[in-house]
Amino acid sequence: MAAHPSITVAVHGATGRMGRVLLNAIEHAHDLRLVGTASRSTAIALTEAGEDARLHDTVESMLAAERPDVVVDFSARDAVLPLARAAAQSGVDFVTGTSGLSPEILEELRAIADDHNIGVMVGPNFSLGAVVLERVAREAGRHFDHAEIIEMHHAGKADAPSGSAMATARTMVEARDGKAFTNAESRVVNVDDVRGGDISGVAIHSVRLPGLMAHQQVLLGGPGETLTLRHDVIDRESYMPGVLLAIREVGNRHGQLTYGLGALLWPEQEGE
Ligand SMILES: NC(=O)c1ccc[n+]([C@@H]2O[C@H](COP(=O)([O-])OP(=O)(O)OC[C@H]3O[C@@H](n4cnc5c(N)ncnc54)[C@H](OP(=O)(O)O)[C@@H]3O)[C@@H](O)[C@H]2O)c1
Repeated sequence: MAAHPSITVAVHGATGRMGRVLLNAIEHAHDLRLVGTASRSTAIALTEAGEDARLHDTVESMLAAERPDVVVDFSARDAVLPLARAAAQSGVDFVTGTSGLSPEILEELRAIADDHNIGVMVGPNFSLGAVVLERVAREAGRHFDHAEIIEMHHAGKADAPSGSAMATARTMVEARDGKAFTNAESRVVNVDDVRGGDISGVAIHSVRLPGLMAHQQVLLGGPGETLTLRHDVIDRESYMPGVLLAIREVGNRHGQLTYGLGALLWPEQEGE
C-alpha cells in the first residue's frame, strides 16, 4: 500500500507553552510528520510527542539536518526575522504565530517570501472562534455607533492590549470606511485611564489575572439594545486546527505573505 504523502514539519519555540501543544497536534495529524525542533533551552525535556524528533539548539543546524517542508514558530518577536531568513535560505516555508509583529517586520516577511519564492504565513490569532468573532464584529460595527472591547488574559501576558483586541477594533473601523465610533466620555474621571485605551472611538479594557487564558468581548450599543460577542479560549488546543491548516496551505502560497487565518478560511475575500 502506498504511504500517505507527508508534510515534514519543524517547530521553533518547541519548549514553550504553544510549542508543546503543537508537537502533540502534529504527532496526531495523519498527513504531517514532525522531523525536528529548535529551542534555546535544550535542557528542558520535551513532551512524549516530541521525543522522536531531534531537538536542536540552533535553527541553522535544525534546517540543515532535518530539511523540513515547513518550519512553524511560536517564540518571541525578535526571533522571527532571523528565523524567516534562515528558512528562506533553505527554501523552507514559514508559519509564525508569534505575537506583536510590527508593520516593518511584516513588510520584511513579505519581501523574504517574494525574493525566495517561499510561502510565509503569519497568524496573529490561530483560534477559529476568535477569527469568526472578528468577522462578525466587523459586520456588527457597521450598524452600531458605540463599541467597547474587554480583553482578558493570563497574568503572564507581556503586552496590553492584546493584538487581537487592536485588530478587532481596527477592522471594525475599516468596515465603516474609517468612520470613528462614538466614545461616551465621562464628565468626571476619578481614576486616570479608567475608560480604557482608545482606537478610533472604540474603548479597549485589558484585564490580567492568574486563572484566565484568552478571552475577548465586543460590546456594541444602540438605542434600547446592546449586542455582546464573546469568545473564550479555555485550552491552547483551540489554536491547533488553525495552525495545522496553515501548515497544510502555506506550500500552496509560494512567493507571498499570507496574513491572518481568515485568508485561508475565506480565500474568496482575500485582499478586500
Ligand atoms: N497566534 C496565536 O494564535 C497565538 C496563541 C498563543 C500564543 N501566541 C504567541 O506565541 C508566542 C509564544 O507563546 P508561548 O505561550 O508558547 O510562550 P512561552 O511559553 O514563553 O515559549 C516561548 C518559546 O520561544 C522560545 N524563545 C523565546 N524567546 C526566544 C528568542 N529570542 N529566540 C529564540 N527562541 C526564543 C522559548 O525558548 P526558551 O525555552 O529557550 O526560552 C520557548 O520555547 C508568544 O508571542 C505568544 O503571544 C500566539
